[in-house]
Amino acid sequence: MSTSNHNNNPNSRPVGFFDSGVGGLSVYARFKQTIPQEDTLYFGDLANMPYGNKTQGELISFARDILDFFKEKDVKAVVIACNTSSAQAYDFVKNDYEFKIYPIIQSCARVIASYNYKSIGVFATEATVKSGVYTRELKKYNPTVSVHEISCPNWVPIVENNKYTEKSAIEDVKNQVDKMLEFSPDRVILGCTHYPYLMSLLKEFAPEELFIDPAAIFVDYIKSDLGKSGLLNQNGGSEDFFVSANPESFKAHAKIFYQVKKLPFCVKLSS
Ligand code: DGL
Repeated sequence: MSTSNHNNNPNSRPVGFFDSGVGGLSVYARFKQTIPQEDTLYFGDLANMPYGNKTQGELISFARDILDFFKEKDVKAVVIACNTSSAQAYDFVKNDYEFKIYPIIQSCARVIASYNYKSIGVFATEATVKSGVYTRELKKYNPTVSVHEISCPNWVPIVENNKYTEKSAIEDVKNQVDKMLEFSPDRVILGCTHYPYLMSLLKEFAPEELFIDPAAIFVDYIKSDLGKSGLLNQNGGSEDFFVSANPESFKAHAKIFYQVKKLPFCVKLSS
């Protein structure tokens, strides 16, 4: 495990990432490709996965536990690589820590709104759709855009349990895409970090270019903000993975997006 000894150079402190499971690796993989010289820590909250059907109180508590864990690790920033946590918890925790916190929805919506699409679809978890945060954030920067949010409660279990080839999974993806196409959206945001793992199925039922995986937009934003704040690291690149349960399952399912070389450390947080 990396030890923190960053007293002489605050830029060399690590960047933390978290999600309920492997989904946030879609952001993490992009980050490692774009800014390979950062030291990174990734936390997959498998003990509480899925997040999509949890209450706001639960999601705030999970986020606080993980942010406290990262505080102990002396991070310079935390990336909320989870739409559900960004939607339901970010507003309640954002002022409580001295390090930077980057929430995926709020960071990306401004950029996506600037493309001036007339109609945007969002596939997301139940908790994200219920929050209305995608609609709120997109309309903040483009008031005339129409936004159609559809929740897909079965999609995270399909990804986490590797059920891509099951008939029920294929039918579920087809039904949700058909429902979305009724709105004729210009683009559809994959508003859950697990969903890009479903691209091979999604593109069977709609053109691949229709879908926006926010990971690239998000990572460009983080890189630019760390740069402006003078916080980029030129000499790092280490990584450590942590989970709250099931390290073997995490390592096995991670590999579609990122090769996790060692078994993650299993840590129990207080919730
Ligand atoms: N991948 C997360 C998101 O972006 C959470 C999915 C879940 O655990 O339900 O919303």
